[in-house]
Amino acid sequence: MRHLLSAADLDRDAAVRVLDVAEEMAATQRREIKKLPTLRGRTVVNLFFEDSTRTRTSFEAAAKRLSADVINFSAKGSSVSKGESLKDTALTLEAMGADAVVVRHGSSGAPHRLAHAGWTKGAVVNAGDGTHEHPTQALLDAYTMRRHLRGGTGDLAGAKVVIVGDVLHSRVARSNVLLLHTLGAQVTLVAPPTLLPVGIESWPCASSHDLDATLRERDPDAVMMLRVQAERMDASQGSFFPSAREYSRRYGLARTRLELLNDHAIVMHPGPMNRGLEISAEAADSVRSTIVEQVGNGVAVRMAVLYLLLAGELPGGDA
Ligand code: NCD
Repeated sequence: MRHLLSAADLDRDAAVRVLDVAEEMAATQRREIKKLPTLRGRTVVNLFFEDSTRTRTSFEAAAKRLSADVINFSAKGSSVSKGESLKDTALTLEAMGADAVVVRHGSSGAPHRLAHAGWTKGAVVNAGDGTHEHPTQALLDAYTMRRHLRGGTGDLAGAKVVIVGDVLHSRVARSNVLLLHTLGAQVTLVAPPTLLPVGIESWPCASSHDLDATLRERDPDAVMMLRVQAERMDASQGSFFPSAREYSRRYGLARTRLELLNDHAIVMHPGPMNRGLEISAEAADSVRSTIVEQVGNGVAVRMAVLYLLLAGELPGGDA
């Protein structure tokens, strides 16, 4: 496999390989000297057309820990704000010799375009495209679940995961559903009808509008809360829920809902969080919360992805 564009690019073997290598990478990160010589002399370009704090710094840390040279490009203050296109930006950066291009873009499909239009010879990694996909987030979430669930045995087959909130605008939800399905987990999406995408019936998961009933009936091993993505809600299309208070009452992870969870269940969120809207401070800061750990795990997972792609060692497809 040359690029990582979608969580669906990974079959079970490839996904497990990334997660296993991520574990080895994480072990190296507990040493005093964290830097590995693996990608010395290779160049990784971070091409971020959308604001991002944790994902961009996570890829940057991952590439640097592998000794790659890193070029950070963000659209703000660049020629993109002067109207330069993805194509011209990509060609310019290509001239600098990119072995890997990590791309985040507001348009769904932009990384596919970059990978298949011949604008770069490097490996393309999708770091979030519009409302479409965010495969490395799904990998770090699966990695986090593997460490906590089933006594840390690493097998997610049969694990029950409930993903709650603004599924409509969430590339995290889509990539998680695809990857968790590949790994054999059972996913239920919970959202108000206005925040579930059309065609959800064809996704490999269940769905519901009732959070309390789902938590009681499914008895999940992991509950993943999604950010309400206000910046993607077009006010001219009317509102997606009556009020923040009503959303929080029906779909927020309040303390009373935490009490419905099994002792071993974990609480996840990809960040950034709207505290008090989709998640209460009690839930975000509880002992069940893996939210800070997810960020740390992201570095090990991205080290694994960059290493495997650049070494040509990721099995599967011609994506
Ligand atoms: C997510 C994203 O950007 O898609 N965040 C992230 O990558 N850590 C989710 C979000 O913005 O809500």
